[in-house]
Amino acid sequence: MNLPKVRSVVSNPTHEGEKLVLLRVQHEAKAYLADQNAELTSYTLELDYNYWTADEILQAVLPEELLEESPTGFAITGHVAHLNLNDEYLPYKHIIGEVVLDKNKRIRTVVNKLNSIDTQFRFFKMELIAGEPDYVVEHHESDCRFTFDFTKVYWNSRLHTEHDRLVQLFQPSDVIADVFAGVGPFAVPAGKKGCAVLANDLNPESHKWLVRNIADNKVGDLVRASCEDGRDFIRNAVSAALATPFPPYTGPKATRSQLKERRRQQQQQSQTELGDRSTSSAAPPTSSVSPSPTPSRRRICHFVMNLPDSAITFLDAFRAGA
Ligand SMILES: C[S@@+](CC[C@H](N)C(=O)[O-])C[C@H]1O[C@@H](n2cnc3c(N)ncnc32)[C@H](O)[C@@H]1O
Repeated sequence: MNLPKVRSVVSNPTHEGEKLVLLRVQHEAKAYLADQNAELTSYTLELDYNYWTADEILQAVLPEELLEESPTGFAITGHVAHLNLNDEYLPYKHIIGEVVLDKNKRIRTVVNKLNSIDTQFRFFKMELIAGEPDYVVEHHESDCRFTFDFTKVYWNSRLHTEHDRLVQLFQPSDVIADVFAGVGPFAVPAGKKGCAVLANDLNPESHKWLVRNIADNKVGDLVRASCEDGRDFIRNAVSAALATPFPPYTGPKATRSQLKERRRQQQQQSQTELGDRSTSSAAPPTSSVSPSPTPSRRRICHFVMNLPDSAITFLDAFRAGA
């Protein structure tokens, strides 16, 4: 018998030490078994709640007229699954939520997005349909850790390819001004790459988590957060970068294993030098070539304006005197 996730050889519950081969017995199999003198016996196989997938369970419990589509599609942000249920599924939202919760071990909270979005700060209204009412998530994207309150800030996990695409366009030595930075999905990875970033968001909650994410990802030397209206930020950004330049780009940040390897090599080198000095009276060699100073960064190369419905209305702020 070939059933997914089911072993086809099991212990015989009535005779200790004996094994049974589970078969879906057809005509040829019967003839073969008779030929081999094998005994055919019956065995009850119980496939319980754990066996079935979320879709299969909902197919079994939802009314027939709702079975055409599956309501179990969802996006995951940290430990939160968010569904976007059509109206006809709303009477069954709690059982749908429970099944999604049961069948996905990483998920602790299931919410349904309501059809309203905060007009200014763009975060979704949502209702809890299963699990814990805990909306502060830790989400990983582009090798960075983002923590934020999902009910108070804008976040869309489906934008991760767009975040990556844009950050890849930046040169590590660039200075970036992110006018509508949210909790930092462009600004923080750009800082990790070496870019210097002015990151702004008017939502005080986004700003709070942006500051936290800058610290958690150790890019505080390169990413500066502000909380002002985009128009004021655009007007002030150029002079802010001129007045307080960013440190020069000095190459990619070392990874943890590279840092460890560098420390190991330094230790080895100083041990060798100590050994050399104890056997020779010669002074240690000094380098006569000093590295040429790299200029600090003060010129903004890109403005990022990720506010699709109204970013265009901010363009006048780029004009002097506007
Ligand atoms: C579509 S979200 C994008 C956030 C982020 N770039 C991302 O990809 O997750 C737009 C952001 O703009 C912020 N915002 C809205 N109006 C603003 C304004 N007038 N000035 C600055 N930020 C604003 C919102 O709080 C929100 O975080």
